[in-house]
Amino acid sequence: MRALLLLTLTALLAGCGTHPANDAPPTTRPAPPPLEEVELSHAVRTLLRPRMGRHARDLGDLFSFVRARRFDETARIATLIAAEPRIARPLADAPDTLNATIPPAFFAVQDALRERARDLATAARAEDAYAVDGAFEDLAATCAACHTRYVPLGE
Ligand code: HEC
Repeated sequence: MRALLLLTLTALLAGCGTHPANDAPPTTRPAPPPLEEVELSHAVRTLLRPRMGRHARDLGDLFSFVRARRFDETARIATLIAAEPRIARPLADAPDTLNATIPPAFFAVQDALRERARDLATAARAEDAYAVDGAFEDLAATCAACHTRYVPLGE
């Protein structure tokens, strides 16, 4: 069963670039449970792990390039982060997928990460050092915002 769910999730992931309509918040889902009751499933976390490895490498590289005022490299890596595939929001008519177990706030932080990465790329292309510094801080804060909520303490 878990393998089947994972396959479904993978399929939605693969399709998320080609079906932008899937990103729209579904209208028929019940209200999410309170935050403290929501935990990401083991399967979702396993799926996220390789992406997180790339994020960690990219953020480290960005840190160096931002400090060195390497605007071209900063824009390139910020664009890579913005292009990372996201987990698709659940479809309203498929409530039994793994995606449907993920709280809506998670998808909002995912979207925010992409926006902050785009902001950083824009600031770097404009060679605006002040804006680059601010955008980098905002990007790193977005990583932390998701971890605070969804990575259990002590991990
Ligand atoms: C939308 C939520 C979300 C965002 C945004 C996010 N992460 Fe994560 N991250 C997670 C979750 C959930 C885990 C725990 C995965 C697991 O159980 O191994 C995690 C784990 C990690 C890990 C540990 C991986 C491991 O192998 O144990 C690193 C490093 C990491 N994230 C880096 C980043 C960086 C850097 C960013 C920003 C560029 C980022 N993450 C943005 C949700 C997020």
